[in-house]
Amino acid sequence: MEFNDNLKIKSFADYKEAYRESVEQPEKFWESVADTFYWQKKWDKTLEWDFTSPEVKWFQGGQLNITENCLDRHLETIGNKTAIIWEPNDPDEESRHITYRQLYVKVCHFANVLKNNGIKKGDRVCLYMPMIPELAIAMLACARIGAVHSIVFAGFSSAAIASRINDSQCKMLITANEVYRGSKRVNLKGMCDEALKDTPSIETVIVYRRTVEPTPMTPGRDKFWFDELQRAETTCEAEVMDAEDMLFILYTSGSTGKPKGMVHTIGGYMVGTTFTFQNVFQMEENDVYWCTADIGWITGHSYIIYGPLASGVTTVMFEGVPSYPDYGRFWEICDKLDVTHFYTAPTAIRALAKQPLELVNKHNLSSLKVLGSVGEPINEEAWHWYNDNIGKTKCPIVDTWWQTETGGIMISPMAGITPTRPTFATLPLPGVQPALIDEQGNEIAFNSKQAEGRLSIKFPWPSMARTIYGNHQRYKEVYFSTFENKYFTGDGAYRDASGNYRITGRVDDIVIVSGHNLGTAPIENAINEHESVVESAVVGFPHDIKGNALYTYVTLYNDIQPSDALIAEIRNTVSNTIGPIAKPDKIQFVNGLPKTRSGKIMRRILRKIASHDTSNLGDTSTLLNPDVVQEIMENAL
Ligand code: WTA
Repeated sequence: MEFNDNLKIKSFADYKEAYRESVEQPEKFWESVADTFYWQKKWDKTLEWDFTSPEVKWFQGGQLNITENCLDRHLETIGNKTAIIWEPNDPDEESRHITYRQLYVKVCHFANVLKNNGIKKGDRVCLYMPMIPELAIAMLACARIGAVHSIVFAGFSSAAIASRINDSQCKMLITANEVYRGSKRVNLKGMCDEALKDTPSIETVIVYRRTVEPTPMTPGRDKFWFDELQRAETTCEAEVMDAEDMLFILYTSGSTGKPKGMVHTIGGYMVGTTFTFQNVFQMEENDVYWCTADIGWITGHSYIIYGPLASGVTTVMFEGVPSYPDYGRFWEICDKLDVTHFYTAPTAIRALAKQPLELVNKHNLSSLKVLGSVGEPINEEAWHWYNDNIGKTKCPIVDTWWQTETGGIMISPMAGITPTRPTFATLPLPGVQPALIDEQGNEIAFNSKQAEGRLSIKFPWPSMARTIYGNHQRYKEVYFSTFENKYFTGDGAYRDASGNYRITGRVDDIVIVSGHNLGTAPIENAINEHESVVESAVVGFPHDIKGNALYTYVTLYNDIQPSDALIAEIRNTVSNTIGPIAKPDKIQFVNGLPKTRSGKIMRRILRKIASHDTSNLGDTSTLLNPDVVQEIMENAL
């Protein structure tokens, strides 16, 4: 197979045609997409679904291995093309260019390390790794032998690692000794050792040496990556997998309780991510694509690894941070690698827009053709800064709306094809049937009038998550119980008279901080663990760079005095339980939290106070304790 762009829609008229077909004959539409992949055995049944149970199955009876689609099928034609360019944290360290053939060999080689250590088809393997090629190799090696990867973002705490390992009973943990992050070195292995005190399912830990520092190893359990390679074969047949077998688990925050292990399955995920990748980004043969996300998030899974590699493009992996050695690093890399397609998050754009323009202008950005945005709504100012200063008004911006749960992009322009509109994710991609739901729970039909409502999806798409690992009931409750027969996204949206969507933000208790989804309930639970705390409420408030930041209201036991030390302790508690990204920006000690008569905290009011928007608090007279509102307002931070 040549550089694989045979899924690309090439004009707006073709988009409309494809969209119409995908709604009128969804099975036929997705069959023709799926036909372009390599299947060991073709599927018998394209789609079976029922949103009440809920049950969704795509390409049943089909057998395949996703790594054969990402690697083997490219070997003859583009084996010598660069698959991954790795750019290290330190600009003085050398980049690595890994061809498709080299990647294939490395994946097969490491797949045997997994096997030699007892990992079999269906076993779960936790990856807690920095942004180095070995992370890509480890995930593809899992897929090669049919093991299920569960990647935990390497910024999470040891408690977060442990709870994720235990939830899915991982047998192995793969990590690195340390990671470079800007001017800092972070001890990942130490984090793992702490987590491993409480993870009985883990039998083996494989440690990649990213630095030369001595690394304490537990005999019998911990093994070095390189030592293990020495005793492994380099060839490995791809395991034959069913289309609906699990490919990976990826945890995302819930608005209540513990994180949800979203389960993605092989066939539909591959078809969906590759189709959307090619159509949204519209790459050409020698283009260089760079998505700045961490692979620990869904954006990295779908649009650094699986979508790009299945399409045979060159994908960049960056180990570092946008601010090191200075805030021009992203632009320096675009210049150095002749990046054509650049995909990042609004929070990064806002942070970089605050810096002197000189840091952009001293680099040559003329290779850029397409810019992307993902993770949260992009505000008008950031959109224009990105368009003017990075794209020089010549690069279409694809504002891609989607979720961990959707697996792939759902609503987005296709670069150069769909007319863009600042702050709008624009139109649904083929196969995506959105619906806006009003206050009464009814769908607002599209009749060329603008509308606003809660965003849901009416029909299954191949890359949707199939369940929450070990808790199908929760999957049903969270996503399929709010509106009958529809998937509920948790987002609000506005639709203009031409059918373009703008995502307005979460309508549940999830706050997106610097592009990271954080459930407020788990943060509250962490804070409430502190011995001085009676109760707490966490809400989001607008923040210039992070998009949203966390504001926390805390009540203390009677004999406890508020203090700076206490604030620091509470912030540390959150950091240790969830991770530094969840640390609240502001903590206000209060004598009581506003509650309804049934005892529910009125977050709506707390959100308004945190945003300094107290002109219209609504009716507070029905509260159990209306007097606390005045006091909270007077002492607001
Ligand atoms: C938000 C990230 C506006 C949204 C891929 C969604 C966005 C949540 C956009 C999912 C966008 C993502 N415009 N909001 N282009 N993209 N979101 O699971 O609230 O980390 O529900 O997946 O991010 O975040 P997640």
